[in-house]
Amino acid sequence: MANTESWGSRVGLILAMAGNAVGLGNFLRFPVQAIQNGGGAFIIPYLVCFLLMGIPLLWVEWSMGRFGGRKGNHSTPFILHEMDPKRALWKYIGVFGIFTNIAVAAYYCYLESWTLSYLWHSIAGTFNGQTADQVAGFFGNYVDINTSTTGIPFEPIVFWLICLLLNTWILAKGLSGGVEKVAKVGMPLLILFGIFLAIMAVTLKSGDHGAVNDGTVGLNFLWTPDYSSIWTAKVWLAAAGQIFFTLSVGMGSIQCYASYVKKKDDIALNAMSAGWMNEFVEVVLGASIIIPISIGYLGIDRVVEMTQSGGLGLGFKTLPYLFTQWGPTLAMIAGVCWFGLLFFAGITSSLAMGTPVMGFLKDEFGWKHKNAAWFFGLIILVLGLPCVLYFKEGVFDEYDYWAGTVGLVVFALFEIILFAWVFGMDKGWKEINAGADIKVPTIFRFIIKYVTPLFIGGVFVASLPGIWEKITATGLPWQVHAARVLLLLMFATTCWFVRVAYMKRKANLKNWTK
Ligand code: PHE
Repeated sequence: MANTESWGSRVGLILAMAGNAVGLGNFLRFPVQAIQNGGGAFIIPYLVCFLLMGIPLLWVEWSMGRFGGRKGNHSTPFILHEMDPKRALWKYIGVFGIFTNIAVAAYYCYLESWTLSYLWHSIAGTFNGQTADQVAGFFGNYVDINTSTTGIPFEPIVFWLICLLLNTWILAKGLSGGVEKVAKVGMPLLILFGIFLAIMAVTLKSGDHGAVNDGTVGLNFLWTPDYSSIWTAKVWLAAAGQIFFTLSVGMGSIQCYASYVKKKDDIALNAMSAGWMNEFVEVVLGASIIIPISIGYLGIDRVVEMTQSGGLGLGFKTLPYLFTQWGPTLAMIAGVCWFGLLFFAGITSSLAMGTPVMGFLKDEFGWKHKNAAWFFGLIILVLGLPCVLYFKEGVFDEYDYWAGTVGLVVFALFEIILFAWVFGMDKGWKEINAGADIKVPTIFRFIIKYVTPLFIGGVFVASLPGIWEKITATGLPWQVHAARVLLLLMFATTCWFVRVAYMKRKANLKNWTK
């Protein structure tokens, strides 16, 4: 069997899984979601979703992965198939676990490459002495390929290619030799950078370097509950969406990582360690940097207005300018910490997105590890290019919506039904508890069987009107339509590959039994 890979150590596994989860979502998406959806009150639906969907799905996905890996399956089409070999449907549902990773990676790697470029510009001191408008304008120029006037010719493309190459090269080095090493260096550094920035942010004093508010003003604002929002479906959908995205559940990447866990190893405690580490980084660090600093300098109203257009604006257009208020040396240190932190958060996640398709090609078609890594790089190059070229036309957001929002919920709904009702809770519970280093509270047996499926089903139904609105929207640029066709084509091609793989398996089986 081509796949004899496994993780090097327990710490490495947990850090890689935490690296998978901790991503740009923790630092750019979470704080903005919180502000838009009731501040401190958002945390209530958020925590409920974490308890009733996030934690159960973590256990389910880890145990599905280890189960599949035992039989030599490292991607969701055949992990799902193995759980119910009689029905043809599951392996095509499993396609989501490859498709979503590729589609998310296609835009995520572009975003990740901005952090590299901004890291470079922070070191070079590009933003020193610039006005707020100039720093904000830099971003606009950057993503507009035609007018790119940021110093380096074709800068966004250059950094994007560097980022793709870096991802591919690390993936080619394997799990323990590449991914795990990056996580072991990247995760501690990220937390260190995060703590430094959070301290700078929270201890900000009004009057110092032009700040108009103390850092605590932003923190208070973020955490002041607006309970009126708790009863709206929109807030619950946002909370559920954030939990899915930040934990990387409903994605297929956790199953893939877990399929390389050794047969007898614990997953119950490991899943919790990685999951809770993600929550610490999100709720404590993610909330204590971007918002307190921006509100410290710009005041609440401006920041609320700016968050309407998402977290990218604050993170890339505003923060680098605010850092320059601290003088050139501190600006450089803060810039390196912020963009370095984002880069490590990003790369440990994008690496996770690469592994499912590689596992699939290696398992089913006997591909060499290196070739599978380069093939992944190539797909991301092709699928990512429209994001880079037509960022402003909305291709980036389109990928994010269909793959990074809708895809996760659909896949999670199917997999929890498969796990709890088809595979069955008796077997499922045994899988979760096998080799466990903690006692999983028995209440979760009930939650996984009834509450989580109903909950995810509810989220799915509640998001249908929004999906319908998207589908029927008119006046979209042709690039958005083309992006949809591209995504559909990719899904269909993956289904076809799965079918070919299945036929091959059947033929092999016949030869064996002859
Ligand atoms: N969880 C990552 C984040 O918060 C995103 C991600 C999605 C990572 C899917 C891997 C797979 O940014």
